[in-house]
Amino acid sequence: MDRYSQANLLNWNERAALHSTDTTGSYRIAQVLAGGSSLHEIEEREIGDIAGLDAVHLQCHIGLDTLSLKHLGARSVAGLDFSPVAIAAADDFARHAGTSARFVVGRVEEAPDLLGRGSFDLAFVTWGAINWLADIRLWARTVAALLRPGGRLYLLEGHPQMNQCELQGGRLAFEFPHAGATDEPLAFDEAQTYTGDERSLSATRNYEWIHPLGSVVGAVLEAGLRLDFLREHDRIAWRAFEGMIEDGVDLFRLPPGIAAPPLAFSIGATRPG
Ligand SMILES: C[S@@+](CC[C@H](N)C(=O)[O-])C[C@H]1O[C@@H](n2cnc3c(N)ncnc32)[C@H](O)[C@@H]1O
Repeated sequence: MDRYSQANLLNWNERAALHSTDTTGSYRIAQVLAGGSSLHEIEEREIGDIAGLDAVHLQCHIGLDTLSLKHLGARSVAGLDFSPVAIAAADDFARHAGTSARFVVGRVEEAPDLLGRGSFDLAFVTWGAINWLADIRLWARTVAALLRPGGRLYLLEGHPQMNQCELQGGRLAFEFPHAGATDEPLAFDEAQTYTGDERSLSATRNYEWIHPLGSVVGAVLEAGLRLDFLREHDRIAWRAFEGMIEDGVDLFRLPPGIAAPPLAFSIGATRPG
C-alpha cells in the first residue's frame, strides 16, 4: 500500500471507531438496527426498485448503508472496506440488527477477487468514496468486473467543482486546482471528524483526490458500462460550507444568494447484457 493509502487507513480506522459509537445522530444507527434505512432521500429514490437484487457496497464504512440496502429489499448484500475497524463494526451492527450481510476487509481494487467477478446486480457507491482513490479508471474497471451483464452502478458523490471551492468572505472561491494539474493528492489535517463529534483524532493527516466529472464519466464508459443518467444536485449529505441550511433529512444546501457550482452528482450506468 502506498504512503497516501497508509495514512488514510490510519485516519479511517480512527474515524470508524468514533462513527460506530456515534452520539450525534449523523449515522442513524438506531434506525438501521431497528430494520430501517440510513439512505438519504436522493439515493433511496435514484436506486429505484432493488427488490431481489444482489448488491455490493464499495467503501461500505461501518456497514449501515449496506444493511439498509438489505432492509430495502435486496436479496443479498456485501460490503467491502479497507478499514478492519469499520468492518468489525459493520459485522457487529449486522448481528445486532439480525440482518444477513457479508462484510470483507479489502482495498477497492481487490473486490472482484474477494467477492466474486460478475456476481452483482447493483454496485452502490455513495458520499465520500472515490475522493480517497488515486486511480479512477481502475475504480471503474473494478466496478465493471463486479457486475453481471445487465447489472448496474449507482454512484452519488460530492461534486468535483464543489470540492475545488472554499468559502471566503461569504462567497465560494476556487481554492484547489482542477485535477490533472498535478498527480499529487491534496493533503488535509483535521483534528476532528465531520459528524460534529467532539472527540479528537490523533491520525489527523489524510489525502484526497478531486476527480473531474469528465474523468469519472470517461472512466465509466471506458470500462464498458453504458451511461443511463448523469445528474447534478444542489444538496449534499454534509455541511460542506459554514452557514449551510438543512433541506431534507441530513441533506444541506447553500443559503440563497451564493453563486455556486452543483454540490453533488449522481451516475447510473449498466453493464451491457
Ligand atoms: C466516507 S466513508 C464512505 C461513506 C459511505 N457513504 C457510508 O456508507 O458510510 C469512506 C470509506 O472509504 C474507505 N476507504 C478509503 N480508501 C479505501 C480503499 N482504497 N479501499 C477500500 N476502502 C477505502 C474508508 O475506510 C471509509 O470507510
